[in-house]
Amino acid sequence: MRIMRAAEMLLELVIPWLTICLLPPAAGTVIVQTMRQMPVITELRPTHNEKICSTWGNHHFKTFDGDFFQLPSPCNYILASQCKGTYEHFNIQFQRQEINGVPIIKRVTMRLDGAEVELDKTSIKVNNEHFTLPFSRYGITAERTVSYVKIEAKLGVVIMWNEEDALWVELDAKFKNQTCGLCGDYNGVQVYDEFFKEGKTVSLDYFEETWKVNGPTEDCEKSSVQDKQTCENQIDLCSNLLSGPAFLSCNNLIDKDSFIGACVKDICRCNSSTTCLCSTISEYSRQCAHAGGTPHKWKTAQMCGKNSNQNI
Ligand SMILES: *[C@@H]1O[C@H](CO)[C@@H](O)[C@H](O)[C@H]1NC(C)=O
Ligand SMILES: *[C@@H]1O[C@H](CO)[C@@H](O)[C@H](O)[C@H]1NC(C)=O
Repeated sequence: MRIMRAAEMLLELVIPWLTICLLPPAAGTVIVQTMRQMPVITELRPTHNEKICSTWGNHHFKTFDGDFFQLPSPCNYILASQCKGTYEHFNIQFQRQEINGVPIIKRVTMRLDGAEVELDKTSIKVNNEHFTLPFSRYGITAERTVSYVKIEAKLGVVIMWNEEDALWVELDAKFKNQTCGLCGDYNGVQVYDEFFKEGKTVSLDYFEETWKVNGPTEDCEKSSVQDKQTCENQIDLCSNLLSGPAFLSCNNLIDKDSFIGACVKDICRCNSSTTCLCSTISEYSRQCAHAGGTPHKWKTAQMCGKNSNQNI
């Protein structure tokens, strides 16, 4: 792959989560600052990403248990809630919208141990009161770093949003087998009981309906499945991208095949331009870094860089 030059991969080791994402060249100094605050990850933690559920880009989701699916919908959903305990300590909901055809996360609403948090691109409210970042109140710490807003609740919940397309929920292991929502039941077993329950397959439509929550005044209907254009299967292209020199350290840490699947869907949706797969590669890179890998810089002027026209 010409677009991934080995020389460009020599710099920038250990870049924690979103610092890899969408950095203009001028942000180099910021990376250094961020790296100084962050512990250097030396040991591999292949299981670490089990605590993380994420949604990104072209309506992709990865559950705590590692199931990937796509849900193109502008409706409001429960992403994760503690539904099986005697008391619901947290409930995290979110909604997407498309701006000029690009899906982003419009709003995240959370109940975290009784505090109501409402987050969108312009504001953060806690119990209906406006706050500016950073702040620490009601057992919640919220801050903005160079590339994401992070909200951490003492009870063992961390939410990270890049203020664009990507949202992460990280839960303490004590919540295993206690959760509901699009992020699944966190039981450590793929597919069960999200998409296979009591001996029966659960359809994505049924799953989605279960966790859809309409607001008091809105009745959102998921639009019917998007145009299923036939598109060339770009599995080789996606596989090459995610196996490139920038991601060598990710090979044994991340479920690469599922990301390749997501990338293939992205290219199909974008009519074989690579515009939408940039977010999937970014997510791959973030998850790799979080799992203890050291993804290198992969964006170039031709590939997902600021001014690339993103056609291969
Ligand atoms: C959660 O449920 C799974 C599947 O039933 C079980 O194997 C696992 O041990 C449970 N984990 C905890 C922490 O209860
Ligand atoms: C998709 O690409 C084909 C071939 O390049 C072009 O003819 C068509 O107009 C494109 N469709 C859209 C929706 O961009």
